[in-house]
Amino acid sequence: MKANRIHEFGGTDVLELEDIEKPQPKDDEVLIKVYASSVNPVDQKIVEGAAQERFPTHFPLTIGWDVSGVIEAAGNHVRKFSIGDEVYGRPFPTTNGAFAEYLVIKADQIALKPKSLDHINAAAVPLAGLTAWQGLFKFGRLEKGQRVLIHAASGGVGSFAVQFAKWKGAYVIGTASVDNLAFIKQLGADEAIDYQNERFEEKLSDIDLVFDLIGKDTQQRSLQVIKPGGRLVTTVMQEFKEEAKEKQIQLEGFTAQSYPEDLEKIAELIEQGMVQPLVSAVFNLDEAAKAERLSAEKHTRGKIVIKVV
Ligand SMILES: NC(=O)c1ccc[n+]([C@@H]2O[C@H](COP(=O)([O-])OP(=O)(O)OC[C@H]3O[C@@H](n4cnc5c(N)ncnc54)[C@H](OP(=O)(O)O)[C@@H]3O)[C@@H](O)[C@H]2O)c1
Repeated sequence: MKANRIHEFGGTDVLELEDIEKPQPKDDEVLIKVYASSVNPVDQKIVEGAAQERFPTHFPLTIGWDVSGVIEAAGNHVRKFSIGDEVYGRPFPTTNGAFAEYLVIKADQIALKPKSLDHINAAAVPLAGLTAWQGLFKFGRLEKGQRVLIHAASGGVGSFAVQFAKWKGAYVIGTASVDNLAFIKQLGADEAIDYQNERFEEKLSDIDLVFDLIGKDTQQRSLQVIKPGGRLVTTVMQEFKEEAKEKQIQLEGFTAQSYPEDLEKIAELIEQGMVQPLVSAVFNLDEAAKAERLSAEKHTRGKIVIKVV
């Protein structure tokens, strides 16, 4: 089978599309025929060797930590799924990913894919969707009526976060560049702030939760708009813990987990038409390096998908 692998750290030039043996599932795993995967910023961090602490890498490693596909074989202990089931999920980034024709993954890390989505759209959901869901609700404890500020609201995680927060009944404020302000309003944001030309900390106050997908200066300035007792949840480094403590703000970072119950809940919201993935570009399996370079520009609207079948 074909797989996009790395044998060393480096730039996108270390990605190699190789012919390798098709993997076999262990007792608690399934073999998925991959139809599509998607690009996430963690791909580049892993390829560059910049995510070693969180995700220690073993070479060779197939990249691509989203999958939508069909179960082709199942291990002896797998009860929940059958051959032919259409599933989606996020392989853990220390294990082989899905920029490949086949993937083995533990059966307790996947769920049935939303029926209303094709594989291209379903592959855009797991990693970004799980991150938005867990960031807002597990760590952020966002409730109806609360005010949430979502940075990078037009990107992969942000575009799900805006929709989830709106579904919950929160008052949603998003940041993006001028070209994406209308887009995040269409997703459901009540207010959209142009981060390149406006200072969000001069416009906002009394925020219950900031969902920070940017870090650094954005994280620090966010502390000025949160009410005492409020929360800042970040997907990147937590750099301002002391300052947060002084302001009685809870600052937390987290790594998204592949909980099937969260994937099922997200699939339910998609089926109900409450939430939808936004795919802005699709590349073939042999164009993975090109897709990664586009993502590295840090201006992806929604998601970039890799089409395998
Ligand atoms: N901890 C975890 O488990 C976890 C999981 C997923 C992601 N992450 C991390 O979270 C971050 C976001 O991930 P993602 O997949 O959403 O990335 P992404 O899709 O690449 O984000 C791109 C978006 O960021 C926006 N953006 C860039 N700079 C901005 C700024 N200064 N302020 C506001 N928006 C800005 C861009 O909007 P414009 O084009 O309008 O500028 C673009 O729409 C990444 O660092 C990723 O590694 C962590």
